[in-house]
Order: sequence, then C-alpha cells, then structure tokens
Amino acid sequence: MIAIGADHGGYLLKEEIKKYLDERGIAYRDFGTFSEDSVDYPAVAAQVAHAVAGGEYERGLLFCGTGIGISIAANKVKGIRAAVCSDAFSAEYCRRHNDANILCLGGRVVSPEKGRELVGIYLDAPFEGGRHSRRVGMIADIEEGRL
Ligand code: RB5
Repeated sequence: MIAIGADHGGYLLKEEIKKYLDERGIAYRDFGTFSEDSVDYPAVAAQVAHAVAGGEYERGLLFCGTGIGISIAANKVKGIRAAVCSDAFSAEYCRRHNDANILCLGGRVVSPEKGRELVGIYLDAPFEGGRHSRRVGMIADIEEGRL
C-alpha cells in the first residue's frame, strides 16, 4: 500500500500518478490536497511521512512544486528517507542504494509522462542491501545521536 500526498504545486502531478497507479492496480491512500488551492506542504509531508514511518504504508509518493520543500519536511520524520528525483537513474538508485521509502517529485519540474516513468522505476527497483545496508544504518545512527 502506497501513501501519496501533494501541495497545490504538486496536485496535478499527483492526480496523474493516481491514474498510473490505478492502471497498474497498485493500492494507495491519497492524503490530499484535493484541489489547486494553496496549502502548506509541510503539513502534507508530515501526514504521509508519519504513515510510512509507522509501517502502515510500504512507500510514499509526495509532490510539490519542485519536490524539494516536501522532501526536506518528510526527512524530518525519523525513519524517513525521502528522495527528490527528476531523472531515471536517480529514481532507480535511490531505491537500490539508499532504500528511499518516499519518492518526491516536482509538479513544476517533471512532465506527467516523466512523472509516470520515474514512479514506475522507483516502485519496481529493489534495495540491494549488502554494503548499502550499513550506510542506511548509519543514517539511522545520525537520527539516534550515535553518529
Ligand atoms: C509552493 O508555491 C511551492 O513553494 C511548493 O510547492 C514547493 O515547490 C516548495 O518546495
């Protein structure tokens, strides 16, 4: 199950990605926003990030104008590794090497077609584990004040 959310800058891309998830039969919950009216991206980021960090949802997809603000906010939640991507290589390797549990996209940066491509790559790519597990563990060490 995927948790998704957007501010007004990412709303239209979120709607496009919902169609993509529907086409692939991937279940999701939409945490909003539900129109192009202005909302504050940290509030949406917090809802989705807590839902993913709590284990209720396997992954998250977040959208704002650039993907940057919503990723910065999501990464404040312990256990979240949110990656903002606009190219295919990064969308694949944020999974393979970083075990990113939230993908952030900018609705004013990537086209609907590119967004579909990046979400597909992100959802399908596995975490490679091995030496990358140690490094991801070190990120948790920073969160816990051990590093
Ligand atoms: C909203 O105008 C915009 O600042 C927001 O969507 C996002 O791009 C912030 O990083």
